[in-house]
Amino acid sequence: MTDTVAEPLTRNAATEPLSYGSYLEVPELLTLQRPRTDAHDEMLFIITHQAIELWFSCALHELESVRGAIQGKRFRQARRGLRRMTRVTSLWLGHLDVLATMTPTGFSEFRGALGESSGFQSVQFRELEMICGLRDRRYLNLPGATTEERERLLRRFHEPNLNDVFMDVLERRGLTPEQLFAPDRPDEDLRDTAEDLLEYDALFHRWRYQHWLLVVRALGTRPGSGGSSGSEFLRTTLDKWFFPELHAARSHVHTLPGQEPTPAPGGNTVYGCPMGYGSELSA
Ligand code: HEM
Repeated sequence: MTDTVAEPLTRNAATEPLSYGSYLEVPELLTLQRPRTDAHDEMLFIITHQAIELWFSCALHELESVRGAIQGKRFRQARRGLRRMTRVTSLWLGHLDVLATMTPTGFSEFRGALGESSGFQSVQFRELEMICGLRDRRYLNLPGATTEERERLLRRFHEPNLNDVFMDVLERRGLTPEQLFAPDRPDEDLRDTAEDLLEYDALFHRWRYQHWLLVVRALGTRPGSGGSSGSEFLRTTLDKWFFPELHAARSHVHTLPGQEPTPAPGGNTVYGCPMGYGSELSA
């Protein structure tokens, strides 16, 4: 028997049948993790971010469909999409849990290589915020974004978001958010969809909280690579909610006769951007 080494397999996309690797473009995918240092934890840092960016892409796809379903009053379909989104968002918490095994010392071994890059500049994250309900025009001018990415952000900014379309459907039914949650209302399809929207909002909020906690543990009170105060800045983002009117209506349910309703959490408040990005925007 001769000791031959098998030729490496090459594929011809035009003639060869699809395989697992070629359908998913696995070889191409695996060329995209390129640490800039020899630090052991840098690979984990890159893969966690890339994995979450892939899920962001999946989330945008799903949320577009949820928005269309609400606009078309296909509430069962909207609820299915929202339940999927809640699960997708809980996966991101798991990703952050894995990254939390990195110690501040492990992080410090490659942090310098990040330069001024930061999750703050994630275009898809801003798209997600916009499609759900947050409009802050300063994020249209994200540092590091390409022309194509800025155009995408602008489009998202002007599109109706989930909060707009749900409020629109309520209005067409002649309902206020307070009436929706009132006991004995017959509008079960809308109320159940509202519950799913709030559930999703809560999960997204948990992501913000868990990310903040991760940053507290990894950086303490040090500023972020993107130039913000770091954990202090991220704490202010915990006031952001996608569906402020629905949240406000919840407190209305518990308001006793003669009491003033309590105000809604944050909502679409425009927050001061500690980096000062976007001051020159015009959209
Ligand atoms: C050890 C891990 C991490 C650290 C130390 C960290 C640190 C920070 C800091 C300090 C900021 C504030 C902006 C700045 O000054 O840089 C930030 C923002 C952000 N990070 Fe992270 N991060 C980590 C992991 C992640 C991961 C895995 C993701 C997933 C994509 C992510 C996504 C984001 C996003 C989207 C923002 C903007 C949040 C907002 O403006 O509401 N980060 N991060």
